[in-house]
Amino acid sequence: MGGHSKVDRAALIASARSAAKNSYSPYSNYAVGAALLFDDGVVVTGTNIENASYGLALCAETVAVSKAMADGVRGGLIAVAVTGPSDSGDGGPITPCGRCRQVLNELAQLGDTDPNILCVGASETCEVRLSDLLPHAFGPAHLS
Ligand code: THU
Repeated sequence: MGGHSKVDRAALIASARSAAKNSYSPYSNYAVGAALLFDDGVVVTGTNIENASYGLALCAETVAVSKAMADGVRGGLIAVAVTGPSDSGDGGPITPCGRCRQVLNELAQLGDTDPNILCVGASETCEVRLSDLLPHAFGPAHLS
């Protein structure tokens, strides 16, 4: 994983799946889990939280980044697992939405890392660098 040999993919995916058990997604019935792995071994998870005002849904990745940053984390992000439900969609890997890519990018750029994103669908998984999901990203360096 881009030199990140200490990444235990199966464990990170299991953390994301476990987080998805707390998904509040009664409107879409589409439970998503996210797990962020930091260079000190800490894992921070998130899950999607929907709202009766549908457009206000918070994605799993954004919730996870918010939890980490609210606890003072700034950088060190080396890998992210994102899991979708096993019973909907085409089974293909779930990839972070555009907003979540930008939110992940902020945390990654603070620590100058390019995390690997493990995208886990019901029957397929793929692994891609954040910089490939979000090329030419706008980030904190543009404002400094
Ligand atoms: N969702 C995520 O949590 N992460 C993504 O990257 C894509 C979409 C959630 C939002 C909504 O609660 C549900 O999936 C269906 O769009």
